[in-house]
Amino acid sequence: MNKYSCKEIRLDISNICNLSCPLCPNTNRRNKKTEEKHLMSFENFKKLVDNIDSFVETISIGTKHEALLNDNIFLMTKYLHNKYPDTDINLLSNFNFNYNTEDIIKSGITNIIIGLDGIDQESYSKYRVGGNFNNVLQNIKQIQEYKNRYNLNIPTLTISFIVFSHNEHLIPKAKDLFSSLGINIFFRRTDYHDGYESWLPKNFHNEQTEEENKDINKNIICQDPFNILDIDTFGNILPCCAEEALNYFVGNIFEDKLSTIWNGIKLKQIRDFLISKQTENDNIPCKFCPVYKNNGYTNYVKFEN
Ligand SMILES: C[S@@+](CC[C@H](N)C(=O)[O-])C[C@H]1O[C@@H](n2cnc3c(N)ncnc32)[C@H](O)[C@@H]1O
Ligand code: SF4
Ligand code: SF4
Repeated sequence: MNKYSCKEIRLDISNICNLSCPLCPNTNRRNKKTEEKHLMSFENFKKLVDNIDSFVETISIGTKHEALLNDNIFLMTKYLHNKYPDTDINLLSNFNFNYNTEDIIKSGITNIIIGLDGIDQESYSKYRVGGNFNNVLQNIKQIQEYKNRYNLNIPTLTISFIVFSHNEHLIPKAKDLFSSLGINIFFRRTDYHDGYESWLPKNFHNEQTEEENKDINKNIICQDPFNILDIDTFGNILPCCAEEALNYFVGNIFEDKLSTIWNGIKLKQIRDFLISKQTENDNIPCKFCPVYKNNGYTNYVKFEN
């Protein structure tokens, strides 16, 4: 009996994006032309949902690419919501689109997490290359106005603001701007994507850094394979969203039940390796992963003065 349960599924329904954020692996792959465009079909999405055979607290859509580029998205989220009304549905998006506000409100999506790291076009587009700040702001305002008009709490909106050297001085202004609209905002440093060093802020640290500093020598391990699964547009299941695990498939959700994959040998091998630091499997992706090398911290970056 597996003592761990899958609490969150993260999935992509598109493997493309309309923006070119410089550190995003998606941008790098597109520049190198290593990936063909692929959108998950509604039929396959239904297979995915129907193969979820145990309660999952959260399903997050759009984890590595841009989900709003799949025109079936609201059909999919409605299907998911009807089948599992108690599961939270997160949408991660850059929100540079002209969708009908009512479609989003009635889609079954519970939380929208918007990747936005600026307070105007100039500061925003340094990282969100190709994005239009006013378009995103307009979308946000329309949703908030609609919710206020009909006294709705859902979907909640949250801004995910990545703090770089060019925008760290804007944190107070960003807090003011989005709190005046009644929107949550959280700030974080960049992950360890290729070339991240030159983008690092000088003074900003993630909130948990103090705790992390205390714990850095303790034996903390990556938590992903004990809690979550990642799914790509072809239904392949991965143990996490790390680039190092990109081709390490632990099953396929169009073909197998979630419980079969969750309790399968490949995930067990990863969990055993993270716990014991030993494996005979040379392909275990964790061996090469910065998260593993940094004791499980997904975005811990030590700042050297
Ligand atoms: C890869 S994106 C996909 C969703 C959507 N395209 C977006 O950007 O919001 C998933 C999350 O990664 C975040 N992200 C982008 N670049 C990042 C970086 N360098 N470090 C950490 N997170 C990053 C985004 O802000 C978003 O919240
Ligand atoms: S908008 Fe999201 S998926 Fe697209 S390039 Fe930027 S971070 Fe990557
Ligand atoms: S250590 Fe890295 S490769 Fe291994 S499960 Fe965690 S994030 Fe994925």
